[in-house]
Amino acid sequence: MVKFGGALITKKDKQSVAHLEIIKNLCSTVKEITEEGIQVIIVHGAGSFGHLKAKQWRLNEGYLPEFKLSDGTCSSQREAVVDVRKDMLTLNGIVVSELRKVGLNPIPHPPHEWASNLGPKFTGDLVRFQSDDVGTIHVTFGDVVDVDDQTEFGILSGDDIVARLSIELPGVESLVFAMGGVDGLLKVPPHLATDEDLIENWSPDVSYEGLHQADIDVTGGIGLKINRGHLVAKSGVNVHLINGEYPERILNLIRNQDWIGTTILR
Ligand code: IPE
Repeated sequence: MVKFGGALITKKDKQSVAHLEIIKNLCSTVKEITEEGIQVIIVHGAGSFGHLKAKQWRLNEGYLPEFKLSDGTCSSQREAVVDVRKDMLTLNGIVVSELRKVGLNPIPHPPHEWASNLGPKFTGDLVRFQSDDVGTIHVTFGDVVDVDDQTEFGILSGDDIVARLSIELPGVESLVFAMGGVDGLLKVPPHLATDEDLIENWSPDVSYEGLHQADIDVTGGIGLKINRGHLVAKSGVNVHLINGEYPERILNLIRNQDWIGTTILR
């Protein structure tokens, strides 16, 4: 199970710009993993394809009857929901197309079509992600989904989806969070960190620092990843945080060679 972080695969402060080279490299790595006979499921984040507009339109707060804004592209929250879903399909289309180019058979599962409600207990049948063919890659992502109460909609993070898949699908061995700009979990804020500040093994008694850009991020940043990662680790699945700009580190991990990153202990 791999989560491609939105900050890794997009330029986070520029509306809807993908990091194509990084996506290509990640997809080649996925291909190499499947060549070792290991099946991969991909969940990706939103980055600038989701967070900027969702934040501007306060979609993470659900439907706000009094809320008014006009940004020249849409005139209501409901229109913004449609737009963000479209933008996420565009980003997903890029990932899917790069997977096809390396010879894999990706199957996209847009959450607004099969999932509803928010957080780790979201509703949605996960059976669609099961298959035993290594060439078939199920792909899903963080999205705006419907919510059953008066809030109408909200943001379901890819971190919640990947955690549920890791815990509930049979036979999942490892979950890798591929992140952008950091080698793993750090003891000090990323811009101050040196190699010695990487936490190689994290358990709840180890304190860490992470940058949560609350001004642009509508989901939970690093805190959400650690929380969900720890739930997964406790279920017996290996959980690792790796710098996705160096995808060979993921291969090294799988091949039992030296790798750089953080393991979340149970
Ligand atoms: C967020 O999903 C989805 C939207 C904002 C529409 P994630 O929480 O998985 O995204 P990243 O990884 O933080 O970008």
